Amino acid sequence: MYRPRRVGILTGGGDCPGLNAVIRGAVESCLSTGVQVYGLHDGWRGALTGEGRNLSYADVEGIQTEGGTILGSSRTNIMKGEDGPETVRMRMAQLGIEGLIAVGGDDTLGVANSLRKMGLNVIGVPKTIDNDLSCTDYTFGFDTASNIAMECIDRLHTTAESHSRCIVVECMGRHTGHIALQAGVAANSHLILIPEYPKTFDEIMRLVKSRHLHGENYTIITVAEGFELSHDDEKNLDVDQFGNKSLSEKGLAKELADMIEKEMRSDDTLPDECRKYECRYVVLGHIQRGGAPTAFDRVLGYRLGVKAGQMAVEKQYGKMVALSGVDIIAVELDNALSRKEVDEEFYAAAELLFK
Ligand code: F6P
Repeated sequence: MYRPRRVGILTGGGDCPGLNAVIRGAVESCLSTGVQVYGLHDGWRGALTGEGRNLSYADVEGIQTEGGTILGSSRTNIMKGEDGPETVRMRMAQLGIEGLIAVGGDDTLGVANSLRKMGLNVIGVPKTIDNDLSCTDYTFGFDTASNIAMECIDRLHTTAESHSRCIVVECMGRHTGHIALQAGVAANSHLILIPEYPKTFDEIMRLVKSRHLHGENYTIITVAEGFELSHDDEKNLDVDQFGNKSLSEKGLAKELADMIEKEMRSDDTLPDECRKYECRYVVLGHIQRGGAPTAFDRVLGYRLGVKAGQMAVEKQYGKMVALSGVDIIAVELDNALSRKEVDEEFYAAAELLFK
């Protein structure tokens, strides 16, 4: 009996604006050649259970305009249980899926690479609002998240200035400060703190005090959630199945705001008005991941999806699609998993604004 070719697609890890555009791109390019696309539900969990559905043109019509993922996502790590990879192999055979398109960040793509080494057919699509995957110039979702953060910081200026306050704004960015730096520079933050370029509390205070002594009545500090205050190791945070700490529990922005306020109040060399200085904090959190993607992320996601679909049709497995300049290319999955940190030149340029 004739059975059409079929590939699978899943979205794993934290959701990200642009995921639906990738799904649409992959479905359009596969269906146009007669290859079916089976959408697995909830990331690697779907690859274990087989839960999912065939995606039609109607299923993906217009979805590039929507945030989130129509397939659902999870942080399930199939490498944790002993028979995870074998279960996935069995499910793929049962469903007649010849290869899998895995859309995800370093955790999801790390699993895809392990499956590749075990002989499974996989193609990776890089995804994270954090923009910290190497081998691709940008990850989709980053532009949307940075624009949301920028708009929020823009708004904080007026209220901070009206009340002569310091406001600490925390952006996502588990290991790197791409979002904090992009949004912080765009929205005129007075100081941007990111994990790649540590600063001591003394250095932070030098800037805050100097601003006030020079007649600036307010300060906006943008901090990436992965920035470490020296005693962070002592905190007992929850971890997910990939060993990632839940940084939203760390309370970084609150702690920094409290420390700054306390230091200003206790420094008796400062004029009285500085010593009454109040600090507030805002954690932008999942707002940065929610809602509709920007045009850049819709188009980047769509083009990556089309390319991944074409590669699946041509059976070019073991690779990851990526953005290089203005081109969509394929790179070896094995080379793609290292972390991309914020460029030294970019941070140095931003530092010129810290005054
Ligand atoms: O990896 C993307 C990311 O948004 C990080 O910036 C953040 O630390 C993490 O996901 C939050 O994960 P969760 O949604 O599981 O709390």
